[in-house]
Amino acid sequence: MLSVKELTKVYEGKIAHRALENISFEVSEGEFIGIMGPSGSGKTTLLNMIATIDRPTAGEILIDRKNPFELKKNDLATFRRRELGFVFQDFNLLETLTVEENIVLPLTLERVSVKIMKEKVKTVAKKLGIESILNKRTYEVSGGQAQRTAIARAIIHSPKLLLADEPTGNLDSKASKDVMQTLSNINKEFATTQLMVTHDPQAASYCQRVIFIKDGALYNEIHRGDNQKTYYQSILDVLSLLGGESGDLSTIRDL
Ligand SMILES: Nc1ncnc2c1ncn2[C@@H]1O[C@H](COP(=O)(O)OP(=O)(O)OP(=O)(O)O)[C@@H](O)[C@H]1O
Ligand SMILES: [Mg+2]
Repeated sequence: MLSVKELTKVYEGKIAHRALENISFEVSEGEFIGIMGPSGSGKTTLLNMIATIDRPTAGEILIDRKNPFELKKNDLATFRRRELGFVFQDFNLLETLTVEENIVLPLTLERVSVKIMKEKVKTVAKKLGIESILNKRTYEVSGGQAQRTAIARAIIHSPKLLLADEPTGNLDSKASKDVMQTLSNINKEFATTQLMVTHDPQAASYCQRVIFIKDGALYNEIHRGDNQKTYYQSILDVLSLLGGESGDLSTIRDL
């Protein structure tokens, strides 16, 4: 459902910077993919282009065989709002709104009726275990709850593709596990295709496949087998080969 073809991104400036170089890969419907690589390797750049927030310098991105960059500006905005969902490291919730109001934001933009909104919030909140905090302000909830709220907001409109940039980056070990379990459940139950950038090998071990990037190019790819422990170990092995992750290796947690 997602096809990335010979994607290159050059940031122009005083000194032009080639952030991505000729990256190609395919993602099937319902896959849950992890993207890993050292800091500065181009992970966010890649995600932002798939998110249609930023334009490729060369190459092509097809989502459901459509090239979003061929759409007119307004159609692109609609496409992004309807077909994609985003989760960020710092949650990006609006502090002046309650948890529930944050979750329904994408629906209010689509002028969905209040009754349907209420029903959808109820279903999603139940699934994510945040029913009891719906009336709280976002500064009154824990990091894990805030991220599950952000995930609820990202999936309330049933997007085809869910994109997450280091969703567990600001969370402790317990909250990370909750969030990864949540993402994994969403992937299984709604068959949402998911792409997640992460530094955390434990988080990555929830993905069916991990794509590694180094210096803007594809470096390696590993698939999850039957054994999560072996998979986790392979992720660690590739990371140590990649180098540049030493700062992050100190945060490795046991499964
Ligand atoms: N808007 C920009 N203008 C110029 N250069 C940029 C811009 N955004 C990113 N870069 C550069 O492109 C390279 C890739 O950046 P990117 O943010 O994609 O890395 P990353 O893999 O997400 O890193 P991190 O793990 O630290 O988040 C870096 O060298 C960065 O400095
Ligand atoms: Mg990044």
